[in-house]
Amino acid sequence: MDASDIARQMKDKNARPLSLSGHVGFDSLPDQLVNKSTNQGFCFNILCVGETGIGKSTLMDTLFNTSFENFESSHFEPKVKLRAQTYELNESNVRLKLTIVNTVGFGDQMNKQQSYQPVVDYIDAQFESYLQEELKIKRSLYNYHDSRIHVCLYFISPTGHSLKSLDLVTMKKLDSKVNIIPVIAKADTISKSELHKFKIKIMSELVSNGVQIYQFPIDDESVAKINSTMNGHLPFAVVGSTEEVKIGNKMVKARQYPWGVVQVENENHCDFVKLREMLICVNMEDLREQTHTRHYELYRRCKLEEMGFKDTDPENKPVSLQETYEIKRQEFLLELQRREDEMRQTFVQRVKEKEAELKEAERELQNKFEQLKRLHQEERMKLDEKKKLLEDEINAFNKRKSAAELLQAQAFSSSSSMNIKRDKDRKNDTACSMEYSMK
Ligand code: GTP
Ligand code: MG
Repeated sequence: MDASDIARQMKDKNARPLSLSGHVGFDSLPDQLVNKSTNQGFCFNILCVGETGIGKSTLMDTLFNTSFENFESSHFEPKVKLRAQTYELNESNVRLKLTIVNTVGFGDQMNKQQSYQPVVDYIDAQFESYLQEELKIKRSLYNYHDSRIHVCLYFISPTGHSLKSLDLVTMKKLDSKVNIIPVIAKADTISKSELHKFKIKIMSELVSNGVQIYQFPIDDESVAKINSTMNGHLPFAVVGSTEEVKIGNKMVKARQYPWGVVQVENENHCDFVKLREMLICVNMEDLREQTHTRHYELYRRCKLEEMGFKDTDPENKPVSLQETYEIKRQEFLLELQRREDEMRQTFVQRVKEKEAELKEAERELQNKFEQLKRLHQEERMKLDEKKKLLEDEINAFNKRKSAAELLQAQAFSSSSSMNIKRDKDRKNDTACSMEYSMK
């Protein structure tokens, strides 16, 4: 019995160990699990974070021995975007649903936050959609496409100098959300001694800035040795190429230069094989598990705490989800009531204010009306006076007119009687003169 068996027994001290007297069959459970998982297929999601043109797509093609869709990014993106592509791969009847997420335009912005924030948001969005699926009444996690990022390959420029501040700030923002494996890209462009110093410098900068990168696990005895050795080789210096060059009588992936050939899979030339071994062959399952048990768990906890859910009350007594829900409901109802009262009071106050305003306006209108009425009366009195004067004038005029007419009439009658007399006289004169002439 080894130490882990004793520990297990200490944990399960309530369970009594019994020995079996014959074959039962539950020793096939691991095989059942393998069969089930193989039928179901696997899912793995890689996020490649690195500057434009640093060699992200070439490395993915080299790692998976295929040619994925490739879009060249420009250096003039106003904001970093993330492009995700999902592929179905098959190797010896094991199906892998692989999603590769690439940053587009990373590091091309003046403002560092504009570079890392979209990456952080993307990772959170994948956690959020998983959480939403989990919280559904009718969950379908079995056939849910899990898009949570299992590993982030962080591509460091082979400057040989030190990490850029953007690298540090981005890795710091991401380290609690994703398993980060830093890689030195295009490692064929840096000399061996410079590379050695660069690796040491990078690791010391990461440590001094408190950036937690993914450590290959050493708790499983079967891989503890290789993993602890590989932890010492981080960050991996990688070279990518899909070109094949003939070396001896074999075609190998390599990059050919005027002065020689860099073989991608030659461990003396670069750490590509180490990365492939660690990422795909040895620790793929641990990366998936860490994503679920560490990073997603942290996201879920923070999110539920933000919503007010907690495992214990302020006195550290355990509270169930149901109790928290009831407390929250009560708090919510009280808050609702309080807001309703507040709104009602505000409403009454506003009505009073409005009433006072209206009364004031009414008073002003009344005053204006009274003033206009007064003016109108004054105008009317003036007009009445003028009318009276005018009527007096008209009466006087009429009197004068009738007097004048009377006078005129008298004058006319006297002049007409004189005319008659004059006519008579003239007639008499005429008759006399005719008498005379006949004589
Ligand atoms: P974007 O997606 O446009 O941001 O670029 P990327 O990061 O995917 O880079 P990509 O793989 O398209 O490579 C850009 C250029 O770098 C190509 O010309 C590659 O041949 C070259 N390249 C890729 N990997 C390496 C490498 O390991 N060493 C050297 N020297 N060149 C490389
Ligand atoms: Mg690319």
